Amino acid sequence: MPITRRQFLKATGGAAAGVSVAGGLSNPSQAAPPPVEVGRTTLPFIPKVVARAGQLRVNTPISFLYPDASSPCAVIKMGMPVPGGVGPDRDIVAYSTLCTHMGCPVAYDASARTFKCPCHFSIFDPEKSGQMVSGQATENLPTIVLDYDAKDGTVRAVAIEGLIYGRQANLL
Ligand code: FES
Repeated sequence: MPITRRQFLKATGGAAAGVSVAGGLSNPSQAAPPPVEVGRTTLPFIPKVVARAGQLRVNTPISFLYPDASSPCAVIKMGMPVPGGVGPDRDIVAYSTLCTHMGCPVAYDASARTFKCPCHFSIFDPEKSGQMVSGQATENLPTIVLDYDAKDGTVRAVAIEGLIYGRQANLL
C-alpha cells in the first residue's frame, strides 16, 4: 500500500526534511552557514611582550618562548629593513628556533647572519623570512609575527606563520 508524505516524514523522524535542505529544495531565503575552512585554527594567539626595541642590539638575538613554554624562539634586530620587520627601523624579526628538519635547536651565527642547525647543518636566513638556504630541512623557520607599539617601544609576539616542528597545530 503506498504511504503518504505525512506518513513518510513521521516514520523517518523528519530526516527527509534534512535531505531536502541538503538537496537545495528548501526555501532559498534561508541563509546557509558560512563554510568552515578546513584545518584552520580559530583559537587566538595570546600577545606576549618579547623585547623593547631600545634594548635590542643589531645582530644579537634574544631568546623567548612562544606561544608556550615548550616553543623556543629568538627575536633579532637585523640593522636594515627586512621583510616582516617591525620597529622604527623595520628591522626586528623573530623565528621559532626549532629546526624544521628534525627539531634540533638552531643557533645564530653572527658572522654569517644566519641561523644554523648543528644536527644536519641546515641554514636559515632571518633577512628573508627565515628562508631555508641549504641543508636537510625543506621548510623555512616558522615566523613569529610581531607587533610594535611606538608609544612604549615594546615588541610583542602576536601570531605564528608556519608550523612549529613536531606539532600538528601551533596552539596546543
Ligand atoms: Fe636541523 Fe636536521 S634537525 S638539519
